Amino acid sequence: MVNVAILGFGTVGSGVAEVLSTNGGLIDQRVPNPVRLKYILDVRDFPDSPFAPLFVKDFSVIEQDPEVDVVVETIGGATIALDFTRRALAAGKNVVSSNKELVATHGCELLQLAQREGVSYLFEASVGGGIPILRPLTACLAANEITQVCGILNGTTNYILTRMIKAGLTFDQALKEAQDNGYAERDPSADVDGHDACRKICILAALSYGRHVRPDQVPTQGIRGVSLADVAYADSCGYKIKLLGRAIRQPEDKICAFVAPHLVSDENPLSGVEDVFNAISVTGNAVGDVMFYGRGAGKLPTASAVVADVIDIAKDVHKARPAQWGPGADDLVVSDDILTSRWYVRADCSVEQARAACGELQPLARGGAPKEETAFLTGPMTGPQVRKATEGLQVQSLFRVLD
Ligand code: NDP
Ligand code: HSE
Repeated sequence: MVNVAILGFGTVGSGVAEVLSTNGGLIDQRVPNPVRLKYILDVRDFPDSPFAPLFVKDFSVIEQDPEVDVVVETIGGATIALDFTRRALAAGKNVVSSNKELVATHGCELLQLAQREGVSYLFEASVGGGIPILRPLTACLAANEITQVCGILNGTTNYILTRMIKAGLTFDQALKEAQDNGYAERDPSADVDGHDACRKICILAALSYGRHVRPDQVPTQGIRGVSLADVAYADSCGYKIKLLGRAIRQPEDKICAFVAPHLVSDENPLSGVEDVFNAISVTGNAVGDVMFYGRGAGKLPTASAVVADVIDIAKDVHKARPAQWGPGADDLVVSDDILTSRWYVRADCSVEQARAACGELQPLARGGAPKEETAFLTGPMTGPQVRKATEGLQVQSLFRVLD
């Protein structure tokens, strides 16, 4: 018997219980010993739940039960979840997590603790919800030097952008729908301001390059600055606006990592990724480009990834995985200021003023634009160059084009 305890019976935790129960017969055919849900820890009571007899409120019950093999942490945050994860690993229990905030901030420490204790710390669900990405990245693409990872990494913001464009919803209406669907973080500013995508690109970069990348090292811009006017201008020239997380290998073992809205050409498959779907493009020096696509958030898709980790452990509960990355460094991450690309600019100025400032440019049009507004695509420039060139133009929006 492989005994599992779930910490936190919210969107993801309740999904994990449901998948373990609904697909229990199938799962047991895939592992040497049956997987059984033994405990659920939550601060609330769930008297009407079919799992009601399994609830406990004291973590030490789980910590001290030698029968518990796998602890599933789906509480979220980096406070109590950190304490419980450390204690579970120190008690010799494997831990599976969907908590990207915890992995991105404390992943290196927790992986090393797991290694010392001879257990595993797995977190497939922490990036891309139901999309298999971390295991393929580290196993199926292990023969490659990963040169670049670029993706739509947040379901909530992609859902908001899609619903605003396709259904004409306001930002607040679209966010409310994302929350009702269980996609958003407890504090949705983590989604909207790009911090969630930042945590995910940190995890992807750490797995790709073997060093811990801290979220505070990664320049991060969310979608609050994206207006429907920007969406219309982008559309007029065959682009969609997407919030991208990017990590690009640099010389001397440095990494350029950042999160920002981008204009993505309709010819790029990332532009067609809508609603809660995420997509991650990985470039390896042998394989070339590979893309992973699926539901990036939500109860059952995320539970699918969590339970896959539980099954992986259940195949051999005593197999400890080596830590997948080592410590980072203060000078590991270089700013995206080094990257040259075209830029989308919307400013309160004339086309002539824009040309005088930026040289050759592609003017854009949209219906109902105010007379003083000009939007255009620049030629290739770095961030400092475009900011300097446009400093006198009353810029309203400035986004990179994904070239
Ligand atoms: P929820 O807020 O829905 O669930 C968290 C649960 O943990 C709640 O039931 C909460 O209770 C409970 N909880 C809070 N504090 C404690 C505590 N001290 N002891 C025990 N239980 C506690 O979050 P989600 O399920 O949405 O997310 C969980 C984690 O998974 C987060 O890290 C999130 O980022 C990640 N994730 C979420 C996805 C999604 O689609 N929702 C997808 C991928 C990852 P109460 O509500 O009463 O506070
Ligand atoms: N809030 C996250 C998102 C959950 O919307 O992508 C999945 O990690």
